[in-house]
Amino acid sequence: MSATQEVSTTPIGRRTPRVDGPVKVSGMAQYTSDFHFEELLYAVPVGATIAKGRLLKLETAEAEKMPGVRAILHRENIGEIIHSVPDPETFAICEERRPPFEDDIIRYYGQYIAAAVADTFENAKAAADAVRATYETEKPNVETHLEADDDPDLIPTTFGEKHRLQSERGDAEAAFESAPVKLDETYITPTEAHNPLELHATTAMWDDSGLTLYDSTQGVVNLRLILAEMFALPKEKVRVISKFVGSGFGNKLFPWPHTALAAAAARQMGRPVKLVLSRKMMFQTVGHRPRTQQRVRVGATLDGKLVSLQHDYIYQRSILDGHHEDCGETTPFQYSVPNLRVTFGRAKRNIGASADMRGPGAVPGLYAIESAMNELADRLKIDPVGLRVINEPKIDEGLGLPFSSRHMLECLELGAEKFGWSKRNPGIGSMKRDGLILGWGMAGCSWIAGRFGAEANVELRDDGTASVACATQDIGTGTYTILAQLTAEKIGVPLDKIEVKLGDTLLPEGPLSGGSLATSSVVPAVFGAADNAIASLITIAANTPGSPFKGYREDELKFANGKVFLKGDGVKSGVAFSDLLQLADCRVIKGSGKGDQTFGVEGSKFSTHSFGCHFVEVTWQPEIARLRVARVVSVMDAGRILNPLAGRNQIEGAVVMGIGMALFEHTTYDPQNGAPINSSLADYVVTVNADAPPIDVHFVEYPDTEINEVGARGIGEIGLAGIAAAITAAVHHATGVRVRELPVKIEDLLG
Ligand code: MOS
Repeated sequence: MSATQEVSTTPIGRRTPRVDGPVKVSGMAQYTSDFHFEELLYAVPVGATIAKGRLLKLETAEAEKMPGVRAILHRENIGEIIHSVPDPETFAICEERRPPFEDDIIRYYGQYIAAAVADTFENAKAAADAVRATYETEKPNVETHLEADDDPDLIPTTFGEKHRLQSERGDAEAAFESAPVKLDETYITPTEAHNPLELHATTAMWDDSGLTLYDSTQGVVNLRLILAEMFALPKEKVRVISKFVGSGFGNKLFPWPHTALAAAAARQMGRPVKLVLSRKMMFQTVGHRPRTQQRVRVGATLDGKLVSLQHDYIYQRSILDGHHEDCGETTPFQYSVPNLRVTFGRAKRNIGASADMRGPGAVPGLYAIESAMNELADRLKIDPVGLRVINEPKIDEGLGLPFSSRHMLECLELGAEKFGWSKRNPGIGSMKRDGLILGWGMAGCSWIAGRFGAEANVELRDDGTASVACATQDIGTGTYTILAQLTAEKIGVPLDKIEVKLGDTLLPEGPLSGGSLATSSVVPAVFGAADNAIASLITIAANTPGSPFKGYREDELKFANGKVFLKGDGVKSGVAFSDLLQLADCRVIKGSGKGDQTFGVEGSKFSTHSFGCHFVEVTWQPEIARLRVARVVSVMDAGRILNPLAGRNQIEGAVVMGIGMALFEHTTYDPQNGAPINSSLADYVVTVNADAPPIDVHFVEYPDTEINEVGARGIGEIGLAGIAAAITAAVHHATGVRVRELPVKIEDLLG
């Protein structure tokens, strides 16, 4: 059983508690707004109270005289901030390119028109409240019904140029017309707000070395590039630090105007300036998942084979920006269908820029496609699991490429077994327990996989410790722990002897904490860095006078479990790297590693995605109109799971968020002034502990070595994909009501 023992001693795949857990629970971990500096000033932005029009007059005199106030900044005195433009060299991304105060036109409610700077937060807030604005006001367009704007086929978006005719094969229209069974439905998802507990925050300061920003960001490297451009600095003159992030969900992926505002204020004041958004501003100026309206047309044979699939979606966007909500991302490959057409359109609204939000595109997209599949199954009287099995593709029919690894059928089989799906009676309201009506539903899911470019350093130190460094960041998902595990795997020392350094642009360039790609991206960089450090150690071992390996060739030496040893002799005879470094009088040796970007790069031989499915039970009490999600079984095919504890936690969190998507979350805009109305955590309802059911998470573990050496794909966002369709199917099964506009409201269910 030596093979098994070997597997069980590797840190990879072991249930590993967070290495940063102790500093977090003891309050020692410093989040962006926890850092304090001498002479610190506080900035509070002033937001427009109209959503469309022009700023005519700003009265600041009263505010300027208030206690502790150092400045009221506005268009006349902010100084130059350059409008960043997409750079094909760097791919640096910004969801809202317009710098604060660039012109007097108001395009959305909350748009910054001024900022108060004072010696305390309270004084800055009071002064911000005292600034008076006069507007020329027009009626904003926050209309919820979406009609596509008259855009050309090829449009520039935040993520590059996109064709509105996104994917096409066969003749979808003709095949739909002649299909024996047809389904033509429209599914709507509302605007949703990211609600990480940690508010967006920036502290900016300038000195001879340039601009330093402490920022609650999911991407220090990207933020540096954009801010360097906005302040006309070489990127080496901008340093971004993000040590701990109180979650992001995508709204912290790319910079927002308040970061530039803090930097400009610090420049103006010659002192560090801290700017922390209010919870209300979190609904206005830092992105949201845009509203989508998706028409799905499916044609099928009587025995359930898809013959045509058309997916035409429209999403809302802001006046100036081009966030692309790619609802059609999964449609071309999720199922086998010979005739397919996917198109999209956009509808401008007087709403702040939209943004990636956990599982962008695929999450609303799969809600529509998986809902259509469930409706088709009911219409055909075929079990919904069976319908998916019938239409399981052999290859990615959109790209015409094989999947690197797809085990959807095993996910369905395991999920059905763990849930007890075979006991399902498909009759509406036919299943009961303890006086409650039960509804059972399911759905499939998928999510992108691949790598961002990444670099890392690994150091071996003469005290027997090691370190790993990478300018990525941990947004609460477990990145500190994963880097420790990967380093421990190579270096063979316990996790508590490994220091992990993240969240600082002084470190080797690392990936965004986005797309659930960070883990897969850092694997080759960390392994390469460790291998190079080990190679240097072996050189030292073979060449240092007094070393037991002096005189041996380097290729006769090996390294494992923190020790160098002769190949023939086994690791037990080895010498610890700390001893060798001390002997060589070398305090530390360093290795560097690098992994290339594969995500979004043309020419891949494989289609790379994760897959999975959810099974959901709801309970329904018609007497009091009480709907609950009672239990969930989720099965994921996400490659090798490096840390089952963190991986499971990611899926559980995503399912909890998915319950919010299905039953609670939506931002509503006031048609009069364009303000997000429910812009507080009391009014924007999210899933809380009392709403969260038992969640049974399983992984079918097939290492995907196309992605990286250990076979790990991503494991965050996929958990949110599909879950809303599974819940609405369960609601239909319990109540007979088919809800096609999220969230499901109690009113929808009152016959
Ligand atoms: Mo995720 S939307 O890539 O933070």
